[in-house]
Amino acid sequence: MDIKTYQQCASAKVVTEIQNIFFETSTKTDFKNPEEKLTFFEKYCGYYLKHHPNFFFLALHENKIVGYLCGAVNSASETELYTILSHYGLFEDQYLKYPAHLHMNLTAKLQGQGIGTLLVEAFVNKLKETKVKGMHIITAPKARNVGFYQKNNFAYQLERDGKLFMGKMI
Ligand SMILES: CC(C)(COP(=O)(O)OP(=O)(O)OC[C@H]1O[C@@H](n2cnc3c(N)ncnc32)[C@H](O)[C@@H]1OP(=O)(O)O)[C@@H](O)C(=O)NCCC(=O)NCCS
Repeated sequence: MDIKTYQQCASAKVVTEIQNIFFETSTKTDFKNPEEKLTFFEKYCGYYLKHHPNFFFLALHENKIVGYLCGAVNSASETELYTILSHYGLFEDQYLKYPAHLHMNLTAKLQGQGIGTLLVEAFVNKLKETKVKGMHIITAPKARNVGFYQKNNFAYQLERDGKLFMGKMI
């Protein structure tokens, strides 16, 4: 398994492979039209390809992308996300202690084999080059991935409006 950044291997083919994983793992499957589908991708993934390609990690297996992790170092300064994501401000008061955030997905057949943990480690190692000491994810309280984040020491939990904030010190 190789972990690379999007910056290291940017191409249209790579974007297509990332999009395939994004929609394969998405809980939202019903879109009114192609524009709505693209906007949905942009909010949670495309935004990071454009703005943070060096914090966009890819897991490659036999030269094919099988998973990705994208994120931002300082959530409070991502002003565009406040306008495109309705829940982005919900945990704003937590951003000082847990500034960085991430989104990640793996192709179904390679889930549960430790690749997600490798991606989190790559993100943490890159964050260590910055002054940031904390990171977070936002999920649903009953989602299966809660166990994954607990195993990866996202020890702080806060629930609001049906969403679960999980914070990790690095
Ligand atoms: C969540 C996810 C990134 C974890 O990566 P992974 O490589 O599968 O996880 P690891 O093998 O490193 O760790 C295994 C743990 O992940 C969790 N896990 C395993 N399969 C999972 C799945 N299909 N969905 C969610 N969590 C899963 C379990 O807690 C598991 O621990 P266990 O083996 O003790 O039960 C990956 O499973 C995934 O992409 N799931 C579907 C999409 C998703 O939930 N993305 C996160 C959105 S916030």
